[in-house]
Amino acid sequence: MAKIAPSLLSADFANLEGEIRKIEAGGAEYLHLDVMDGNYVPNISFGAPVIAKLRDKTDLIFDVHLMIEKPERYIENFVKAGADIITIHQEASLHLHRTIQEIKSHGVKAGVSLNPATPIESLKYVIDDIDLILIMSVNPGFGGQSFIPTMIEKIKETRSFIDKHNPQIILEVDGGIKLDNVQEIVKAGADLIVVGSAIFGADDVVERTKEFYNLIV
Ligand code: DX5
Ligand code: ZN
Repeated sequence: MAKIAPSLLSADFANLEGEIRKIEAGGAEYLHLDVMDGNYVPNISFGAPVIAKLRDKTDLIFDVHLMIEKPERYIENFVKAGADIITIHQEASLHLHRTIQEIKSHGVKAGVSLNPATPIESLKYVIDDIDLILIMSVNPGFGGQSFIPTMIEKIKETRSFIDKHNPQIILEVDGGIKLDNVQEIVKAGADLIVVGSAIFGADDVVERTKEFYNLIV
């Protein structure tokens, strides 16, 4: 069964604890945490100190999405901050295989994210080493963008690739997911659905989280 990972990027940054309580009440089990460095992507969000403070407030699974150049420099910081999953970008790590091994050496799940133009075949030689593949369905950097339609085909191809090579891998999709396209994305093969603005931009965040769950069961 697919699950929803609300992205804190679109939450009220002045009231993060309150926002977390709302998605918990809506049934969320994951919290997607978008870390941006203003270099790999043209935007800056938050880093390990914020995540560490939130770790004291909730037992949600911390799904940390690192949109940072050379993430290998900071893996230990995010492990210490309480990440359960650390996802790096294929395009951002000089030695992808080594960085994956480092994440796993800390007992944390290792994910690799692919930008819209990056082919799934680029993960062929690390497929046995990873726990999660994150398909970006927008160009990373901002919440509130539109889903890129060709990514449906990519999700389907990734599903087949995972089923063939390592069926344990979680297939996550991130960007532009709304009430009106979430079912198509699940049908294409996604396991974990990141939703930012369509949850935290809603008038009633608790109800909106439930609505997403109701659509995907
Ligand atoms: C974009 C981030 C996303 C973002 C999604 O770079 O990786 O996680 O929060 O936001 P929405 O759901 O608004 O597209
Ligand atoms: Zn993300």
